[in-house]
Amino acid sequence: MKLGACYYPEHWPEERWPTDARMMREAGLIRVRIGEFAWSRIEPEPGRFDWDWLDRAIDVLANAGLEIILGTPTATPPKWLVDLTPDMVALDRNGRPRGFGSRRHYCFSHTGYREEAKRITRAVADRYGQHPAVVGWQTDNEYGCHDTVQSFSPAARDAFRQWLADRYDAIDTLNCAWGNVFWSMEYRSFDEIELPNLTVTEANPSHWLAFRRFSSDQVMAFNAAQVEILRELSPGRDITHNAMGFYTGYDHFALGAQLDVLGWDSYPLGFLEQFRFSEEDKVTYARTGHPDIAAFHHDLYRGCAKGGRWSVLEQQPGPVNWARNNPAPLPGMVHLWTMEAAAHGAEMLCYFRWRQAPFAQEQMHAGLLRPDAEPAPAFAEARRSFEALAALGNHGKPVKQVAIVFSYDAEWITQIQPQGQDLSALWAAFECYSALRERGLNVDFVAPAAPLDGYKLVVVPCLPHAPDAIVAALETSNAQIVIGPRSGSKTAELTIPEGLAPGPLRKLAGVTVSRSESLRPGLVHRGDGWQLTRWLDHVEGSAEAELVCEDGTVACWKNGRMRTLAGWPEDSLIRKVIGLTLADAGIDAPALPMGLRRVTTQAGSFWFNYGPLTVEIEGAALARAEWCFVRN
Ligand code: GAL
Repeated sequence: MKLGACYYPEHWPEERWPTDARMMREAGLIRVRIGEFAWSRIEPEPGRFDWDWLDRAIDVLANAGLEIILGTPTATPPKWLVDLTPDMVALDRNGRPRGFGSRRHYCFSHTGYREEAKRITRAVADRYGQHPAVVGWQTDNEYGCHDTVQSFSPAARDAFRQWLADRYDAIDTLNCAWGNVFWSMEYRSFDEIELPNLTVTEANPSHWLAFRRFSSDQVMAFNAAQVEILRELSPGRDITHNAMGFYTGYDHFALGAQLDVLGWDSYPLGFLEQFRFSEEDKVTYARTGHPDIAAFHHDLYRGCAKGGRWSVLEQQPGPVNWARNNPAPLPGMVHLWTMEAAAHGAEMLCYFRWRQAPFAQEQMHAGLLRPDAEPAPAFAEARRSFEALAALGNHGKPVKQVAIVFSYDAEWITQIQPQGQDLSALWAAFECYSALRERGLNVDFVAPAAPLDGYKLVVVPCLPHAPDAIVAALETSNAQIVIGPRSGSKTAELTIPEGLAPGPLRKLAGVTVSRSESLRPGLVHRGDGWQLTRWLDHVEGSAEAELVCEDGTVACWKNGRMRTLAGWPEDSLIRKVIGLTLADAGIDAPALPMGLRRVTTQAGSFWFNYGPLTVEIEGAALARAEWCFVRN
């Protein structure tokens, strides 16, 4: 795995560039990611390009032996462009323009802006596409950051109407598929359809699902246009993009299919603080991050990436500026996160950012260097990682053990129609992932259409729409299978299937869900050492009641190789069911000490200790924030 840094030469005096480049090499970095926000310096006025500074910056970096990943600057259209094309800005859900003054203010559907994005991409690729030091490209920056995939603009509305016409062909097909007879919502033509915001109460969930799919497709079209230009003008270079943590606004499998390497931005402490972890976890892991946050995304994006090629394009190096609270990592954690990315198979990891900026929005965000250019604590940890990676040599790729089936469609459906507070397919997947990782197992994420050969255990945490492909793959696999609630409960159009849930999975599951209810916090059904929470499916059928609560409620049904959860896959219930299933699959994987994680590769085992206690691995002590590799 190569190491690198995110660098903004336009933020620093030119005299400083050679020192920065030299120090990057001293830290063991070989890659440098630049340019993704530099539009106002590249093209200060419409049509007037200023390449000189960037030519010189690239030369300085190249002369130091650094390999450059150049970003297309389309996440930050400059003021003059917004003034020339005021309707290029996105409108938020309340119809308010997302104004200039930060970033990501554009609407993916605005055809004028799409042309501008192509124009600047072509200009940059034309200039540097053949430069020997430019080894890769990043399109835009974090599609969807600051909630920017959906736009409720006239441009989006017009494009949505066209998208619907292409998909449904006839308006009556759409009316029938969505059930628009309900509340007299029928349309006479595609041109009558508005975006699903600003309705009095919730819009038709099928309408929302179509809009979510459309919005994702708009990102794909925007990205594809840049990819096409980069392939033409810069052949042979890898094209990447940086995805985010716990973010599902577009279909990352679709994005991965367009790129050579799928990247993501890893901020373990920021994510712990921002997302739905318990207060207890937020304190326990405040300076390490929850042990599954980084790994979950490493494995998810490896699964989304074409050919499994992925990298970390931004790695947290110290306190960030954007979470509710922003603690510093424990000494050793930046190094541990780096080695963990390598263990999961990353090709590259770049620290964000090289030097902390003393100005603007991110002045409180750490870098490898402090604002005064002295090394920050992460500088030495980067160097230490470089040395450790060199000493480690070939450690092999993670071996295939367990598959989790995940789809972005599933998450959109549960967001649109949660039916109970905070019930989400993404978080169901995270819960299942954690339960498996606590047993030291490797997990692969697979799309519902992917083959399942070679897995002894397949978990489908929550897949409301189960396409035919997944049903066929499950039927032909030999794996033990666990499916979570709501799976197979919806058609592709977000309606209830004929014959009820789990729809096409009924035959395998041996159950039909006759009634579903969600359970408020505190409403629990207790079992023997486990409990059923949040959701309850009442079922009919021939499956065996395997886990029964004290009050007679069935929490898990078993039919041959398939277990069907009646409760939400979380906490003690999913852990209990995973335990039973592992025994049936013949996998010996006892629970690990708290906070300890393992990655098994072809060559051995990596161990990462996020937990508060020192543990023993093969006779040696492994303290908190330490890792080791035990060769076979
Ligand atoms: C990312 C973004 C970077 C920077 C960073 C700060 O979301 O891609 O440009 O803002 O967060 O943590």
